[in-house]
Amino acid sequence: MGRIKNYINGKWTESKSKETFRSINPANKEEVIGIVSRSGREDVDEAVKAAREAYEGWRLTPAPRRGEILFRAAEILLKNKGALGSMVTREMGKVLSEGLGDVQEAIDMGYYMAGEGRRLSGETVPSELANKDMKSVRVPIGVFGLITPWNFPVAIPSWKIFPALICGNTVVFKPSSDTSGCAAKFVEALVGAGLPKGVLNLIHGPGGEIGEYLVSHPGVDAISFTGSSDTGKRLEAICGAIHRIIVTEMGGKNAIIVMDDANLDLAVEGGIWGGFGTTGQRCTATSRIVVHKRVYRTFTEKFKAAASHLRLGDGLQKETDVGPIINESQFKKILKYIDVGKKEGAKLILGGKVYPKGNCSKGYFIEPTIFSEVTPEMRIAQEEIFGPVVSLIRAEDLRDAIRIVNGISYGLSSAIYTQDVNSSAIAERDLESGIVYINASTIGAEIQLPFGGIKHSGYGRKEAGGRGGALDTYSRWKVIYRDFSGKLQKAQIDK
Ligand code: UN1
Repeated sequence: MGRIKNYINGKWTESKSKETFRSINPANKEEVIGIVSRSGREDVDEAVKAAREAYEGWRLTPAPRRGEILFRAAEILLKNKGALGSMVTREMGKVLSEGLGDVQEAIDMGYYMAGEGRRLSGETVPSELANKDMKSVRVPIGVFGLITPWNFPVAIPSWKIFPALICGNTVVFKPSSDTSGCAAKFVEALVGAGLPKGVLNLIHGPGGEIGEYLVSHPGVDAISFTGSSDTGKRLEAICGAIHRIIVTEMGGKNAIIVMDDANLDLAVEGGIWGGFGTTGQRCTATSRIVVHKRVYRTFTEKFKAAASHLRLGDGLQKETDVGPIINESQFKKILKYIDVGKKEGAKLILGGKVYPKGNCSKGYFIEPTIFSEVTPEMRIAQEEIFGPVVSLIRAEDLRDAIRIVNGISYGLSSAIYTQDVNSSAIAERDLESGIVYINASTIGAEIQLPFGGIKHSGYGRKEAGGRGGALDTYSRWKVIYRDFSGKLQKAQIDK
C-alpha cells in the first residue's frame, strides 16, 4: 500500500514530525502492509481545528444530502469489497470470509444511516395551552473524537463514523495503529463519495500519546471509544473530570449455556464459531461454555473433536479456519493466560501452544485451546483473554448456569442452547448482558439494533441501531416550545 498518511482538512498529509511506523501482516511479520505517518499533538491540533471549522457548514447541510454522501460511500465500499476484504485479512489476520464480512457490516451501516438522513425524527406532542406547540428535534453534538480497535478495522469505524456524520457532527478519527491501512481505505470511500473537507479527519499514531490528548482536547465535544476496559476506564475518568460526553465499548467474558435438552451438535458448532472464529479476538467471543452436568462429558468430547480439526494458517488461504493473533503483546498475553489456567488446575485438553509449523512460524499463531474442569472463580473464567481459548464449566441446572454466567464483571453477550421454551424465556430475562442469543452463538450482532454491554463492558449510550442506539449516541435532543397566542401563557398555572 506504500505510505499510509493522515487525512486532515481534505488533504492526505505526512505527520509534522515526518516520523513513521510500520503496519505488518500478523500472519507473516516480514510482510509490511504500509509505512504509516506517526502523528503527534500538533497533528491532533490541526485535525481538531479542521473539524471545528467544517462543523458549521456540515451541521447546516440538510440531513438527506448528508445521507446521499453516505449512500455513495456504501456503494464504493461494495464495489471495492473484494480488495478491501483481503486488505482486512492481510493487515488484521482474520480469514478472508470474515474480512469480507467486516466490510459488509460497514456497507450495511452505510445504507442504514443513509436512510436515517430522511428520518432523524423527533416528537411533536400537544401543549396543555392553546395556540402553543412543542416538539423535540435531534441536533448534532459537535466535534466527535472517535477511537477504534484493530479487531474490526472497517466495521467498527463505520459504526461510529456513519451515524456521527448523518447526525451532523464532524469527526477526528484515531484508529488502532495495527490497522492503519484499513482505516485509510475506509476514509477513502467517504472522500470518494464527496464528503466536504474537514468533516472527517484521520490521524494515525500511538493511543497513549495522541489518543488521550485527543480525548481531553478543548476543541472536542464528545468521544466514542471501543477497546480495552483498562483504557476505556481511564478515558471515562478524563472525560468525567471535564464534563465531556463519552461512550465506551469494552471487553467481554461471554458465555454459552448448553442445557441437557440442547441440540448438542448445534451447540458445538456455535461454540466453535464463537470461541475460535476471528481467533477469539472479538469482544463478543465465546470464552466460557457452561454445560449442564448431564451432557458435560458428551459435549466436551464432541467440542474437543470439532476443535481439533480446525486448521491454522494465513487467512487468505482457502483451507484456513483460524488466523493469527494481531501482535506480539496480545500473543504474549494469551500465552500468559494459558499458563495461568494450567497453574490454577484447569485441565488443558487441547492446544495450548504456539504453532510454528511451515509458514506459520513467520506469524503469531496459537493453537485453538480448550480447558475443561474450569471453575467459575478461576482467572481464566473471569478475565478477558481475547484469543482462541475456551473454558468449559460444569453447571448443576439452569439456575446454577445463569448464576455462573452472571458472576463476572463483564456483561456484553451471552447465549443459551435449549429446546425448552421456558428455559429460554428465563435465560432471556435473567442473563445480565447487553445481548442474549437463543440457540445461536455469542457473536454476530446485526447493525440495525443497539450493540453494547453492561457492567465493565460498556458505559454510556450504545453503538449501532437507530433510535435508542446510535442516533441517540451521536445526537442530542433539543426541545422547542412555540407560543403563537400573542400573550403571556403560564404552563401549569393557566387553565
Ligand atoms: C467486536 O468484537 O468488537 O457481534 C464487535 C459481532 C460483530 C461485532 C463484534 N458483529 O460479533
